[in-house]
Amino acid sequence: MEDKKVIFSGVQPTGCITLGNYLGALKNWVELQNDYNCLFSVVDLHSITVRQDPVQLRKRCVDFLIQYLACGIDGESNIVYFQSHVPQHAELSWILNCYTYLGELSRMTQFKDKSAKHENNINAGLFTYPVLMASDILLYQTDLVPVGHDQLQHLELTRDIAIRFNHIYGDTFKVPEPYVVKSGAKRIMSLQNPTSKMSKSDPNENGYISILDTPDAILRKIKRAVTDSGSTIKFEEGRDGINNLISIYSAVTDKSVSEVEAEFDSKGYGDFKLAVAEAVIEHLRPVRERYEDLKKNKDYIEKIYSEGAQRAAYIAQKTLSKVHRRIGYVDRKYIKK
Ligand code: TYM
Repeated sequence: MEDKKVIFSGVQPTGCITLGNYLGALKNWVELQNDYNCLFSVVDLHSITVRQDPVQLRKRCVDFLIQYLACGIDGESNIVYFQSHVPQHAELSWILNCYTYLGELSRMTQFKDKSAKHENNINAGLFTYPVLMASDILLYQTDLVPVGHDQLQHLELTRDIAIRFNHIYGDTFKVPEPYVVKSGAKRIMSLQNPTSKMSKSDPNENGYISILDTPDAILRKIKRAVTDSGSTIKFEEGRDGINNLISIYSAVTDKSVSEVEAEFDSKGYGDFKLAVAEAVIEHLRPVRERYEDLKKNKDYIEKIYSEGAQRAAYIAQKTLSKVHRRIGYVDRKYIKK
């Protein structure tokens, strides 16, 4: 790989890839990919912290990987792969579990939210999930992690674990930085309940837009989006619904919030919603078209994720071997250097 800084990021293969995932993460991956050595993983180990149907999961994993490519990720110059194909993730995760405190994990808001939602399956994996995420990142000596706002707490913990390990054993891990866009796209809200984030596990499908939704579905969902009883298109404190639509429009058109406000100065909600829907439809149209094309090319997809896993495993093993040496494990003589 060229001597560039390293990016790692991933999406869990649950539900569907939403407009929130796209604007908060994937769109930025695409924008950053030429300037960094990038690894983009479908983080399937993470997804089983919640029960998954095996047939659906296998299909969804491939489908997510295809959507990464459809969004514009170059599968050859970047490393694109399934997390479960690179066993070093799970191996490092065990080790880092021993350098993470229960108190730290019990403060994680995602754990609190998910354990409230799945109270019959509060498994140990759900609790130690952030340690696996730290392992994903630290295995590749990652510099930058482009994520949405909701992952910042996990990133902070990742940094703490890296600093702690380095402090005990000497420099072992690069301490990564989060990359979160400054605009409202860092936190796209549910269309039905604009005080909570747009989520792919929302049981109400009117709350989110999938990046593969048809133009009709996008139009319908945006028209039904919950707004307040006002009438002006202004980004103001407390107007969560309209602020969210402004953020979405601004992100897909690359216009600033004040440009959007000026454009819709004398217009009402009806016109604005139509314009937002139209802009989202046009932005996602090429993604859907590329997805349909790529889906037909099974051999190419297999090649991308097989080569991706091999390249990832090679880099991951370097870090893992270093960690083993630091801790005091006997060298694995059977691994060729
Ligand atoms: P996940 O699968 O929930 O979401 C994937 C990415 O999408 C971002 N995101 C959002 N951004 C803006 N608005 C929203 N409504 C919204 N919803 C989700 C997330 O911040 C994320 O960047 N734990 C991670 C997956 C993961 C990971 C990693 C990420 C595992 N290991 C290592 C980075 C590096 C997660 O559950 O993301």
